[in-house]
Amino acid sequence: MLRRIDVVTLFPDWLEGLKALGLTGRALAEGRILLKCWNPRDFAQGVHRSVDDRPYGGGPGMVMRPEPLARCVEAVLAEGEPAPVGCLTPQGRVVDQTAVQELASRERLILVCGRYEGIDERVMEALVDEEWSIGDYVLSGGEPAAAVLMDAVIRLQPGVLGHQDSAAQDSFADARLDCPHYTRPETWRGQVVPEVLLSGDHARIQRWRLAQAVARTAHRRADLLQERPLSRQERQAMEEFDLAGGAIDQESGLK
Ligand code: ADE
Repeated sequence: MLRRIDVVTLFPDWLEGLKALGLTGRALAEGRILLKCWNPRDFAQGVHRSVDDRPYGGGPGMVMRPEPLARCVEAVLAEGEPAPVGCLTPQGRVVDQTAVQELASRERLILVCGRYEGIDERVMEALVDEEWSIGDYVLSGGEPAAAVLMDAVIRLQPGVLGHQDSAAQDSFADARLDCPHYTRPETWRGQVVPEVLLSGDHARIQRWRLAQAVARTAHRRADLLQERPLSRQERQAMEEFDLAGGAIDQESGLK
């Protein structure tokens, strides 16, 4: 269970929303998790406290200087339990729900946010243990990526979601997307709620949701199903609600 997150950032304001709002705000306010931000500028010397410099070899942009960042990360490591140092960069392992679950089960996360063109590679080698990306696109810094990762990890902590099993039903929880959801009114602009959801037959509702989830995954993210065969339960649910209709083949689980 996560007890503490340390974020190394030149722009701690980026994380204010996470502290103030929603589930993450509440989890942090209740003291379930300690969030501490560290600014490399506080570890920089000289009148200008400069944290970046021009890249050797030329080229556009600036690079984060090694010494202020290294001192800052070392100060983080000197406080509290040992933990791997993670850095948010587009070069990292792409975060998926499996990675989120793995990170959520740790006691402490240390996240370093890069800025400018990047971080001096020697600091990466000396102090960073793992690199994380939130997708194949480039942000202007690691902060929004760290906020995304923290949100995903905090909501999995015991007691943070209202419903104990909400997380088990998330999209990607079993390598499939989530099913559709409906609330009142029963008819909205001529569209009605699927009859099964009004039936009160909870086992049937569960099978319908499973069938819908698999059908959606097959249509929108067939890649998720390519990695595993459909389970007997999934197959039967698809057949019961007539969603299998030519949609399953041996090799991919789909047609
Ligand atoms: N920093 C810049 N782009 C990023 C991305 N896609 N993921 C994580 N950190 C980043």
